[in-house]
Amino acid sequence: MAHTGRVLVIGANGQLGVELTDALVDRYGQDRVIPSDITASDRENFVTLDVLNVEQLKDIVKENQVSDVYLLAALLSARGEQNPMWAWRINMDGLLNVLELVREGLVRKIFWPSSIAVFGQTTPKVNTPQETIISPETMYGITKLAGERLCAYYSKKFNADVRSLRYPGLVGHRALPGGGTTDYAVDIYHKAVAGEVYHCFLMANTRLPFLYMSDAVRATLELMQAPSDQITVYSSYNLMGFSTTPAEITASIQQHIPGFTIEYEPDFRQQIADSWPESIDDQQAREDWGWQAKIGLNEMTWDMLTNLEKRQATLVK
Ligand code: SER
Repeated sequence: MAHTGRVLVIGANGQLGVELTDALVDRYGQDRVIPSDITASDRENFVTLDVLNVEQLKDIVKENQVSDVYLLAALLSARGEQNPMWAWRINMDGLLNVLELVREGLVRKIFWPSSIAVFGQTTPKVNTPQETIISPETMYGITKLAGERLCAYYSKKFNADVRSLRYPGLVGHRALPGGGTTDYAVDIYHKAVAGEVYHCFLMANTRLPFLYMSDAVRATLELMQAPSDQITVYSSYNLMGFSTTPAEITASIQQHIPGFTIEYEPDFRQQIADSWPESIDDQQAREDWGWQAKIGLNEMTWDMLTNLEKRQATLVK
């Protein structure tokens, strides 16, 4: 089917939203992409939207002839632990409001991110399979588990085209993440470029799966563009980039900035990280729609440092 409607990005000011919106504009054209967020922006076509406001959401969808929705607005793991009820409301009611749009025939396709946070202590930690024990221990993870089941339910029951990825930790230089456990892997580069010591809230050898932003954006577009007969997972696809630790990221930064130092001061986020897998088996995504990550730890370090140094040089001028 030819793509004729507009694309609504909810949470367009966030870490992923900023970059995904640009990629969607490149693909569909400025006129066809409506970025939205609860906080203001001067982006073209931007609309302010609270995803909990159903009437406002429906009005925007109808006024702009939206056919595809990318729902990125969410509270992440660490912030969710500080306000579990708020995390439940934003993450669950937001998703249900958007799923209802497709059931009511107002939009044709939805993208919604799940996360490695659906897994827990009893899940196999290495090469975690697509189908395995799902036992989240954070409110964020619980909302992602419930969300995955809702996506599968709406797909099966109402024939809705809902697609989802279980993102590992995402790292990018464009926007700061907010409130996640994997966010150390973004902050560390900012501190390195600023010439500061990084105080890490996880222990040196905490191994977690990551995906660099360019790969995350490409995975999202590839999944959304895949013909529907190639999709076999209606909950959420496992996705993997590479696996690393604070100590390994430090060593890779030190290849470029030898004086960079890190101090380990684990806090409540250590327990969250300890409940997540070290690496993910994404074979199903590879088989179904040809997924393949391109960026590893050293490419990520080079790209993060180069871009953050460029930005710092512009600010100093
Ligand atoms: N990056 C997220 C977090 O750390 C996990 O999906 O909360």
